[in-house]
Amino acid sequence: MTEASLLLAWYDRHRRRLPWRSDPGAAADPYAVWLSEIMLQQTTVQAVKPFYLGFLSRWPRVEDLAAASTDDVMRAWAGLGYYSRARNLHACARTVAAEHDGRFPDTEESLRKLPGIGPYTAAAIAAIAFGRRAVVVDGNVERVATRLFSIAEPMPKAKPLVHAATDRLTPEERAGDFAQAMMDLGATICTPRKPACALCPLNAGCSAFRNGNPETFPVKAPKAERPARAGAAFYLRRRDGSVLVRTRPPRGLLGGMTEIPGSEWTPDFDASAALGSAPVPADWRRLPGTVEHVFTHFALRLTVWAGELDGEGAPEGYRFVADRDLDAEALPTVMRKVVAHARSHARATADRIEKTG
Ligand code: ADE
Repeated sequence: MTEASLLLAWYDRHRRRLPWRSDPGAAADPYAVWLSEIMLQQTTVQAVKPFYLGFLSRWPRVEDLAAASTDDVMRAWAGLGYYSRARNLHACARTVAAEHDGRFPDTEESLRKLPGIGPYTAAAIAAIAFGRRAVVVDGNVERVATRLFSIAEPMPKAKPLVHAATDRLTPEERAGDFAQAMMDLGATICTPRKPACALCPLNAGCSAFRNGNPETFPVKAPKAERPARAGAAFYLRRRDGSVLVRTRPPRGLLGGMTEIPGSEWTPDFDASAALGSAPVPADWRRLPGTVEHVFTHFALRLTVWAGELDGEGAPEGYRFVADRDLDAEALPTVMRKVVAHARSHARATADRIEKTG
């Protein structure tokens, strides 16, 4: 038996039942496959599930998503991270609806021309949704392949070797199931730590298993340390309880998302000069503690300032949102942390006043 047929037989019994997967033999909906693959980039299956189901019930067809407002899409994506994906997702839905009659193209080459679809996603959709033979390599597949063949070149330099190895393994038929079987094997058996090699359908032909060193693959180049940045966030409440926010510029980090106003985030941020970047003069108080959030390219520490405002209007470029509507805004996780931090201190203050007053 080939590795592929061993793996497919294992998949037929042990595959994960995931909401975007069709039953064996049934055609998968390209829209559902595309949506799931975009969401699964750099994001775990567990985190994706509720977002995937929410999107699909709200926008069941690609035309529905294309007709949504960008704001609604960003709001629905809030909390999933890597927000450029949401902007590209919406652009892609519009392109498919307007230029392809609502049908996803069915080759890797044509899929790659769409916004947000790179080599991995094009291969995954071509294989899973259209049954084409395509070589699909994600992080799980990298781990399985480097172990099977003891590929000792460090990542990412080993990528061409991994691609070639996966190409040799990929069968002509059922390439989509094969790709997802590699992913499931990587997620449930060929795990980064303590792989369950005794249960693996490919152990007989696995070089790393034979050598007793599966955990040493994939070999990784030493990571540069994540740089640190800091800044301030200004949580301004109006008398009626609404909170001052603004929308970030459409491009760049957290583009198009809602934020609590703040300073720039810089490596040499000077907290003592933070009030210089407050959006308006107010009775600013620095709240105890900080909010921390790790982005891909830097770790952020924010000091949070709270203030109250008597006036009515928001300064240009800002708006007030009722406190109860904040949760429905397109607030990324870092800003949800800022809001939670500010709210918890507001509560602590109210409790103190109640006790002493
Ligand atoms: N990660 C990316 N795509 C996936 C899929 N189709 N199934 C499971 N995990 C995945």
